[in-house]
Amino acid sequence: MEGNMNLTLKVWRQKNSNSEGRFETYDVKGISEDMSFLEMFDVLNERLITEGTEPVAFDHDCREGICGMCSMYINGQPHGPNRGVTTCQLHMRSFKNGDTITVEPWRAKAFPVIKDLAVNRSSFDRIISAGGFVSVNTGNAQDANALPIAKPDADEAFMAAACIGCGACVAACKNASAMLFTSAKISQLALLPQGQAERSIRAEKMVAQMDEEGFGACTNTGACEAECPKGISLENIARMNREYFSAVLTSK
Ligand code: SF4
Ligand code: FES
Repeated sequence: MEGNMNLTLKVWRQKNSNSEGRFETYDVKGISEDMSFLEMFDVLNERLITEGTEPVAFDHDCREGICGMCSMYINGQPHGPNRGVTTCQLHMRSFKNGDTITVEPWRAKAFPVIKDLAVNRSSFDRIISAGGFVSVNTGNAQDANALPIAKPDADEAFMAAACIGCGACVAACKNASAMLFTSAKISQLALLPQGQAERSIRAEKMVAQMDEEGFGACTNTGACEAECPKGISLENIARMNREYFSAVLTSK
């Protein structure tokens, strides 16, 4: 049924990274259970703008579960209550009429709040810039099948490459560790022939950058894997540790 939900939202409002934040309470009425969580926020923001109030700032781009922008902590869980979905793919049918929903930004030192629910995740970009790429000479593309790749390796690399860089793993972790993200990015290249030339230096540099950004250590609680919307496995962290130690032991 259209427009059948009335909800109470407790939303974190914060002007910028230097100001103190606080929860504000809003009643939202006439929400369809077919709306996405972000569309529900669009309804709230249209009303706030009509009332001459600042709309709630939140990140979004694709709204298809691809870009990783829609970072929100919903009722104590990154991306809300459902497994394997991002906030933009979370539908209001996952909530009940009359519910109170608490929405907060990711909380981690390395993800400072820009405004309200939007945080700065450029620390992730700097980890990628440190080594999450393959250097190639430009020219014609290689023939297809010129580099045979075993199916299990291709599958594992593909699963690691599913990471969308959303940061839910960091938000879920009590240590604000970025190991699941970094290990996915290291793994997707370490498993493929194209990633071999820079394999050691990549692991060393990306782990060093991760530490420099102020992310915490991993204590194997597994919250990251449980909350990751793309099902990135903890096995990637074990692989990253192997990659890192082998790189350190063999470097001059
Ligand atoms: S590992 Fe999962 S939770 Fe972490 S950034 Fe990648 S997709 Fe998001
Ligand atoms: S807006 Fe792109 S993943 Fe949600």
